[in-house]
Amino acid sequence: MLVMMNKLCLLALIVQFTAAKVNSRYYPRFHLAPPHGWMDDPNGFSVYKDEYHLFYQYNPNFSFEPGIPHWGHAKSKDLFHWEHLPIAMYPDEDYDKGGVFSGSALVENDTLYVIYTGNMNYPGKIPEYKHYQALAFSTDGVNFTKHKNNPIIKSKKHQLNIKNPKVWKHNDTYYMVLGNSFQNNTLGRALLYTSQDLFSWTRASVLDYSDGSVGKLWECPDFFSLQGAFVLLFSSHGFKPQGDKYKNEFQTGYVVGEFDYKTNIFTPVTEFRQLDYGHDFYAAQTMVDKNNRRIMIAWFDMWGGNYPEGADGFTGFMTIPRVLSLTKQGRLVQKPVKEITGMKGKLIRSGKADKGTTATLTNKAGEIYIKASGHKSLEVIIESSNVTVKLIYNSIHGRVSLDRGGVDGVRRTKWRPHGRLRWLIYVDASSVELFCGVGEVTLSSRFFPDGPISVRLGDRSKAKEFTVHDIKRTMPKPNIPMGHNQIN
Ligand SMILES: *[C@@H]1O[C@H](CO)[C@@H](O)[C@H](O)[C@H]1NC(C)=O
Ligand SMILES: *[C@@H]1O[C@H](CO)[C@@H](O)[C@H](O)[C@H]1NC(C)=O
Ligand SMILES: *[C@@H]1O[C@H](CO)[C@@H](O)[C@H](O)[C@H]1NC(C)=O
Ligand SMILES: *[C@@H]1O[C@H](CO)[C@@H](O)[C@H](O)[C@H]1NC(C)=O
Ligand SMILES: *[C@@H]1O[C@H](CO)[C@@H](O)[C@H](O)[C@H]1NC(C)=O
Ligand SMILES: *[C@@H]1O[C@H](CO)[C@@H](O)[C@H](O)[C@H]1NC(C)=O
Repeated sequence: MLVMMNKLCLLALIVQFTAAKVNSRYYPRFHLAPPHGWMDDPNGFSVYKDEYHLFYQYNPNFSFEPGIPHWGHAKSKDLFHWEHLPIAMYPDEDYDKGGVFSGSALVENDTLYVIYTGNMNYPGKIPEYKHYQALAFSTDGVNFTKHKNNPIIKSKKHQLNIKNPKVWKHNDTYYMVLGNSFQNNTLGRALLYTSQDLFSWTRASVLDYSDGSVGKLWECPDFFSLQGAFVLLFSSHGFKPQGDKYKNEFQTGYVVGEFDYKTNIFTPVTEFRQLDYGHDFYAAQTMVDKNNRRIMIAWFDMWGGNYPEGADGFTGFMTIPRVLSLTKQGRLVQKPVKEITGMKGKLIRSGKADKGTTATLTNKAGEIYIKASGHKSLEVIIESSNVTVKLIYNSIHGRVSLDRGGVDGVRRTKWRPHGRLRWLIYVDASSVELFCGVGEVTLSSRFFPDGPISVRLGDRSKAKEFTVHDIKRTMPKPNIPMGHNQIN
C-alpha cells in the first residue's frame, strides 16, 4: 500500500509541471480551501504581526486522501481574503516522518511558535504508530525551523494516541491540553501538561474523560475561559446515533465547567453537547484576537465523506470563522465574524416574500437573511438543477432540520425562535451554513450542485424579510497541477 502510494506520488510530481484545466464548480469563493490537494484539520490559528495565520493538515500531492500530512499555511488580514504561503512544515524528521499532525500556535517575543504532534508509523510492529509532541518557530511568519531538541514530549511505551497539543500561557506558566485515549484505546480523554519555559513539560492532570458515551479517542482538544466559565472543546471518534443526536460517527462538541489554576482540576458542569448539527463539521480550533474575540474555525468536511470535489483536484475547506459566546445555560453561541458584512456584493432581493419567491445567486455564493413569524413553520430551499437542500423549521415539534437528499440526508435538532424567527444562511459553491436565532444552533453541510444555485421560499412559507446578497470572491482561484486529480 505504502509502496504503491509512493509510485503514485512520483507520477503526480512528474505531471505537476503541466497546467491543468481547473473546474471550480465546487471550489469556495470566500471560505479557505487549499490551492490543490487535500485539507483537513485547522492548525495553529493565531494572529502574528497583525495578520491572521491559519495552518492546516495538508497533502499537497493528492486530493483523494490525507496521505502523510504536511502543514499547509495561509494568512489574512480580514479572515476572508486569504493568501497561500509555502508549506510551513514537511514530514522530514525522525519524529514526524509519518506526518506533521495537528497542533496549535503561540506568539511570544515576536516569534510565532507552533506546537504539533509528530507521527511515526511502524508497520507490522506493536504499537503500529507513535506520537511525539514537537515545536517549531518562525520570526518572519513564513519560514519555520524545527526545534533542535525535539520531541519536547515523548510518548510512553505502549501509548498509541496522545496528540494535538493546544498551548496557551497564563501568568508565567505555559499550559498544554492533549487529546488521548486510555483503557487500551477504548475511551477518550484530555490531558493537561504544564511548563515554565515552553520546552520542558510535565503532566499536571486529566482534565476530563469519556465514560463510554463520549467517544473512544479524543483529538484536537481546546480549553479556554469564556465569560467566567471554562470550555473544553474536542473532537472524538466512535459516536453512535441516539435519535437526532450524534448522526455523525465523528463529533465535535464541548463541556462547560469550572477550572482551578491552582489545582489544575476541571469540574464539568454541563453534559457534552454537539457544537454543530450538520453533516460536515470537525476538528474546531479557537484563538483570541486583538479585539478579544474568541474566534473558532472548523474543517467543513467529515471523515468518510467521499467528496466529489476530489476529482476536481482538491478536497476540504474551512467553515466561516465564528465568534463564540456563552449563554447563562452554558451553551455556546456562534456568530459569523462581522468582517463578513464587508464581503457582501450585489443585493439580489429584499423585503417581504411569499411562498415560491426565488432568487438566483450570481456566482454560487451568497448570504440569505430571513425574518418570519416565530409561530409558523418555514421552509427555505437551496436548489440547483440536480440537488436541493431544504432548511425547515417545524413549529409544531420545535425543530430545525437540514435535508440535503440522498442517503443519510437529514440532520435535525430541537430549536424554537425567541420571538421572531431569524435565520442567516451562507451558501458557497458546495456548502451551506445555517445560523439560527443569534447563533444558538448551527447546521453546516456540504452539497454538490450542478450549475447555478437559487434560493426559494417553500410552500406554506411566508417571510417578513427575505434578503439575498451575493458574496464576493475573496479566495484566490485554485491552482490544480495537471494530472493531480487522476489517482490512476
Ligand atoms: C509530496 O511531494 C513532495 C514533493 O513535492 C515529496 O517530497 C513528498 O514526499 C510527497 N509527499 C507524500 C506524502 O507523498
Ligand atoms: C520571551 O522573553 C522573555 C524575556 O527575555 C523570556 O523570559 C521568555 O522565556 C521568552 N519566551 C520564550 C518562549 O522563549
Ligand atoms: C529559514 O530559517 C532558517 C533558520 O533561521 C535559515 O537557516 C534559513 O536560511 C531560512 N530560510 C529562508 C528561505 O529564509
Ligand atoms: C488491547 O486491544 C487489542 C486490539 O483490540 C487486543 O489485541 C489486546 O489484547 C488488548 N489488550 C488488553 C490488555 O486488553
Ligand atoms: C495570576 O495572576 C493574577 C494577577 O496577577 C493573580 O491574581 C492570580 O492569582 C494568578 N493565578 C495563578 C494561578 O497564579
Ligand atoms: C449533481 O451534478 C454534479 C455534476 O454532474 C455531480 O457531481 C453531483 O454528484 C450531482 N449530485 C447529485 C445529488 O446527483
